[in-house]
Amino acid sequence: MKGTLLSLAQKRYAVRNYTSQPVPDDVLQYILEVARMAPSAVNYQPWSFVVVRQPEMMQRIHEVYHREWFNTAPCCIVVCGNHNESWHRGADGKDHCDIDIAIATEHLALAATECGLGSCWVCNFDTEACARLLQLPEHVEPMVLLPLGYPATPDVPEKKRKTIDEIAVWR
Ligand SMILES: Cc1cc2nc3c(=O)[nH]c(=O)nc-3n(C[C@H](O)[C@H](O)[C@H](O)COP(=O)(O)O)c2cc1C
Repeated sequence: MKGTLLSLAQKRYAVRNYTSQPVPDDVLQYILEVARMAPSAVNYQPWSFVVVRQPEMMQRIHEVYHREWFNTAPCCIVVCGNHNESWHRGADGKDHCDIDIAIATEHLALAATECGLGSCWVCNFDTEACARLLQLPEHVEPMVLLPLGYPATPDVPEKKRKTIDEIAVWR
């Protein structure tokens, strides 16, 4: 089985054009189950997932990330971090919420890829407007929008990545 995860990681890319084909609920459930298995600091699991499927609600989410391409996604998961539930390191108070949310989000993205879906991490959105829209309490931060859908084009673009020699040191 060695290579399965590598091939998923190679296949996942930032998809910015989707078909209108809806994503079935059982596929969304599977993707969420993979995210549920993500590790987190002290196993606090400070995450929640808002699954946006209704077209009117997608329209409202588009208002907080106003890009033409985003409009093509049939659904989107808003990954939220709860700063009251996350681990704050004793020594310096560092909040590990961002790290936990990043792991869970990439679990979502890889699971989506496995299901033949495309996704795209989006952090450059109006988080305050999003929190208002979803009526989130103050300590819950919408951290990532993850649009999901079937890619409009089948080609996986070439991955531009640093080489292992550039990023790894062996001691
Ligand atoms: C933390 C994070 C934030 C990102 N925010 C955005 C964003 O706001 N808008 C966008 O179009 N892409 C966003 N991306 C996608 C990156 O541009 C993309 O993952 C990167 O260029 C690598 O390309 P690939 O995902 O196709 O391999 C984000 C990715 C990450 C990991």
